[in-house]
Amino acid sequence: MGNALHLENVTMQFGGVVSVNNLTLDVPEHQIIALIGPNGAGKTTAFNCITGVYQPTNGLIEFMGRPIVRNHPVGKALRNYKGECADKFASDPVLNPTPDQITGMGIARTFQNIRLWKSMTVFENVLVAKHQHAHQNVFSATFRKNLAEEKRMREETMELLSEQGLDAYKDELAVSLPYGLQRRLEIARALATNPKLLLLDEPAAGMNPQETIELADFVRQTREKYDLTVFLIEHHMDLVMNVSDYIYVIDFGSEIARGIPEEVQNNRHVIEAYLGVADEEAI
Ligand SMILES: Nc1ncnc2c1ncn2[C@@H]1O[C@H](COP(=O)(O)OP(=O)(O)OP(=O)(O)O)[C@@H](O)[C@H]1O
Ligand SMILES: [Mg+2]
Repeated sequence: MGNALHLENVTMQFGGVVSVNNLTLDVPEHQIIALIGPNGAGKTTAFNCITGVYQPTNGLIEFMGRPIVRNHPVGKALRNYKGECADKFASDPVLNPTPDQITGMGIARTFQNIRLWKSMTVFENVLVAKHQHAHQNVFSATFRKNLAEEKRMREETMELLSEQGLDAYKDELAVSLPYGLQRRLEIARALATNPKLLLLDEPAAGMNPQETIELADFVRQTREKYDLTVFLIEHHMDLVMNVSDYIYVIDFGSEIARGIPEEVQNNRHVIEAYLGVADEEAI
């Protein structure tokens, strides 16, 4: 099997600040791959480049073997460019899809700061995501077909909620759920768009230890059930080490290590990067 996702020399520079620096990595199909690193390392920025939130300053992103994002610095951006490989993609067409187009291709994500539709119920949050996805592809449908489709979408919504243990909360407002359940609802909503690749930005943040253990099982089960590839940012090291097939570690935007969990756990650069953060936080 090939790669679901491939990043090549991806750099994101904001003004003079290089937030993601020449990142090259692979997320093979059907695996669970983690992206870790201290606060401010550039993890969320990397996700934002993949999902069309930011246009990277330079680099190539491929999804299922096809280029989906590509850019190179020109003009002022080139003069100010602090990254590497400015020439590598200079003769290739720029590709800059919107977040909606990325979702339509089969990449779904959850956010570090939960983004649910607060005034909607749990059920509506998932159903609306299904509608948004469906309407990207449907340009003509008869009324009868619409009714059948609506029924199917409602059934699938209930199925997603049941899997997450959220069926009992279906008529509650999304904001009224405890934090751990809101995270699960966000995953259900992401799955509603039928992704091939699921990006999770700190899914265990705010979860208690029990919920975190359940999340590890759930991520594995979801991968099997939906034949998904998972790319995950997470600070809970026990979860990362438990669930990941392979781990990339970045600090100050650049890769500092990569490997299977045991390799990363014992890597001197990784230990130093995390201890550095721990020292600063202790002050
Ligand atoms: N839109 C932006 N404009 C300017 N700087 C930005 C922007 N987005 C991110 N940055 C900067 O990029 C750097 C990386 O931030 P990012 O949020 O990607 O880190 P992170 O690894 O996700 O950290 P955390 O673990 O705290 O979530 C930070 O210095 C941040 O201030
Ligand atoms: Mg982040």
